[in-house]
Amino acid sequence: MSSVFFYVTYTLCLCLGLLCVLFVSCWSSLWRGGFSWDGSSLQFNWHPVLMVSGLVVLYGYAALVYRVPLTWRQKKLPWKLVHAGLMLLALLLSILGLCAVFDFHRSFNIAHLYSLHSWVGICTVAMFAFQWSLGLAGFLFPFSPPGFRSTLKPVHIWVGKAILILSVTSCISGISEKLLFTLNGSTGEPYSSLPVEAKFANSLGLLIVAFGLVVFGILSKKKWRRPESDGEGVHLLLSEGSA
Ligand code: HEM
Repeated sequence: MSSVFFYVTYTLCLCLGLLCVLFVSCWSSLWRGGFSWDGSSLQFNWHPVLMVSGLVVLYGYAALVYRVPLTWRQKKLPWKLVHAGLMLLALLLSILGLCAVFDFHRSFNIAHLYSLHSWVGICTVAMFAFQWSLGLAGFLFPFSPPGFRSTLKPVHIWVGKAILILSVTSCISGISEKLLFTLNGSTGEPYSSLPVEAKFANSLGLLIVAFGLVVFGILSKKKWRRPESDGEGVHLLLSEGSA
C-alpha cells in the first residue's frame, strides 16, 4: 500500500517537473522572443530555462533516485553513479544558465550581483558545487574513511534539502524580478493589471513551489528511504563495486 502511495506521489512529481520545464520554455519563447547566444536579451532567456530545468527539476529528480522501491533489490553502486551523474548534469546546466545571464549583463553594461535574487542564487549554486564535490569525495572515493562517511551522510541529506529550498526561492524571486522589469514601465500592460504573461509566469512560480513541496515531502518520509542493508559501510568502489 505504501509503495502504491509512493508511485502515485512520484508520478505526480515527474509530471509537475515536466510541466515546469514546459511552462518556462513557453514563457521564454512565446512572450520573450525565443533564444540565441549573442549577449542580447534572447541570451538572457536561456537563464530561467536552464535554472529551472537544472537546479530545480533535474536536481529534484536526482535527489529521489534512491527512493524508488524497484531499485532497492539492486546493488547501490550503480544508483550512486546515476545520482552523482544526474547531479553533475544539473550543476552543469545551472552553471551554463549563470553564464547566460552574466554575458547578458556584460554586454549591456549592467552591474553584476546587485540584487537579492542574485545573492541568494549565487550562494545556492556555490553550495551545490561544494555539496557535489564533498559527496564525490565522501561516498564515491574508494578510500574515504567510514567515520567520515557516516558523519557526512546526515549533513549531506540536510544540505541537499536546503539547496532545494534555496533553488525554489531563487526561481520565485527571479520570476517576480523579471516580470517587474519587463512589464512595468514599458509600453505594454503593467504587472498590476495582470496581463496573460503575468498570469502564465505566476502559474510557473506556483508549479515550481508545488514541485519543490512534493520532492521535499518524498525526501522527508522515513518509510520511503532505501533500507541500509546492502552495506553502506562497504565502500571499496574499485575492488568490490557494491557500496
Ligand atoms: C535556481 C535558480 C536561479 C539562480 C540560482 C539564479 C541566479 C542568478 C544570478 C547569480 C544572477 C546575477 C547575474 C549577474 O549579476 O550578472 C541572476 C540574474 C537574474 N535572474 Fe536569476 N537565477 C535563477 C532563476 C531565475 C529565474 C527562474 C528567473 C526568471 C526569469 C530569473 C531571473 C533573473 C533576472 C531578471 C536577473 C537579472 C537581474 C539580477 O541580476 O537580479 N532567475 N540570477
